[in-house]
Amino acid sequence: MKVIVVGAGYVGLVAAACLSQSGHQVVCVDKNIKKIEALNNGIIPIYEENLESIVRESLGNNNLQFSSKIFVSSDIDMIIIAVGTPTLPDGRVDLSQVYNVFREIVNVVDHPIIVVMKSTVPPGVGEKVKKVFLNKSKVPISYISNPEFLREGQAVWDWYNPDRIVIGGDDRESIKKVLKLYSDIDAPRCIMDITSAEMVKYASNAFLATKISFINEIANLCELVGADILPVAKAVGLDKRIGGQFLKAGLGYGGSCFPKDTRGLDFVSTINGHTFNLLKSVIEVNFKQRIYAVRKLINHLGTINGKKVGVLGIAFKPNTDDTRESPAIDIIKMLVDEGADVVAYDPVVGSEQCPLPEEITLTNNYEVATKHAHALVICTEWPEILNIDWEEVAGHMRDPKVILDGRNCLSKSLLVELGFKYLGIGR
Ligand code: UDX
Repeated sequence: MKVIVVGAGYVGLVAAACLSQSGHQVVCVDKNIKKIEALNNGIIPIYEENLESIVRESLGNNNLQFSSKIFVSSDIDMIIIAVGTPTLPDGRVDLSQVYNVFREIVNVVDHPIIVVMKSTVPPGVGEKVKKVFLNKSKVPISYISNPEFLREGQAVWDWYNPDRIVIGGDDRESIKKVLKLYSDIDAPRCIMDITSAEMVKYASNAFLATKISFINEIANLCELVGADILPVAKAVGLDKRIGGQFLKAGLGYGGSCFPKDTRGLDFVSTINGHTFNLLKSVIEVNFKQRIYAVRKLINHLGTINGKKVGVLGIAFKPNTDDTRESPAIDIIKMLVDEGADVVAYDPVVGSEQCPLPEEITLTNNYEVATKHAHALVICTEWPEILNIDWEEVAGHMRDPKVILDGRNCLSKSLLVELGFKYLGIGR
């Protein structure tokens, strides 16, 4: 197949690289000229395991090219759209990038073609795009919804090992052609109409977010009744109908998808006349989890005004430098508001990646954050944090040596033995 991928962001880049590795001819287009120049030299703007080597190999064998303009030669079979769909302050999804691409496509396409939507768009957008943009095209343009479920940090693995491939469309031939993109991938194919495919993406992310907020509520209750969330979550998850994944209690979810998609689905519900109360609670519980953590720390320190607090881990999860909607950012802001002297540590995140209050110090050396600290807050379960020499840290911290383990990732018994006051989530 010969395809154009529009958008060299996280999803577009992974799709372009993996499709070219599977033998398709791919041109990946992005308006950001500097990014395209770097990509043509094999320099990847994000950290993603194996991505750089695939891009370099595909550039080498000419299966992959990068360009700053959409040029639709007559042999192009389809255009895959993977541009950003951020949330606006009122919860609406900002579709301006998607609409701009369609305006451009309608102008440049001169032969029948398939447009494959990989960006996450609210249910109903595909049908609207067909009416508003595609019906105005001089040549037939077929629309397929093909949502992506990649996780940051393991996107290449996820691409080749998906739980399912979801295709929404109303033209059998186009669906067949899009399926050919995935002929080397072994996974169930779920074929449906466009709006249903769009809904699958939102429902999946909202359900996973619900699991996280649910287990966080159970964890909070565990603390009140004197139970331990770790054996509770393990035993609950062993019920095959529930499943053990996404039952890790902690500071809640962050990242570019769950916060955006839960808010987006809430807005879609409201605008369609449905009040999605369960989802509203999921969002609220997730935010409160951050406040509870700060409250717990204050309760144990008396006051945190003037005390040194080391925040360990800024990324929203390990193995990424992404700090979007990371619980650590809100926690740092609240600690600063309460007068704490905050030193934040992350093994990879630098100040250019995240907007932190001016008064905090950001370091890539954990000792700078732990030395003379009264308390530590673990926000990301990085291997670098799990492997810290806690005996050494106990030696250079100040009393009362509180560790708030916001990811329940450290050994409570070891830390207590070393003289720390250990606070987990639901333990
Ligand atoms: C998610 C979805 O998993 C993916 O399918 C979708 O395409 C994009 O959104 P991602 O944002 O990369 O992927 O991260 P994920 O690994 O799913 O974790 C999301 C957040 O939930 C992280 O902040 C993580 O720390 C948190 N989380 C996850 C929990 O708090 N508890 C859990 O049990 C699992």
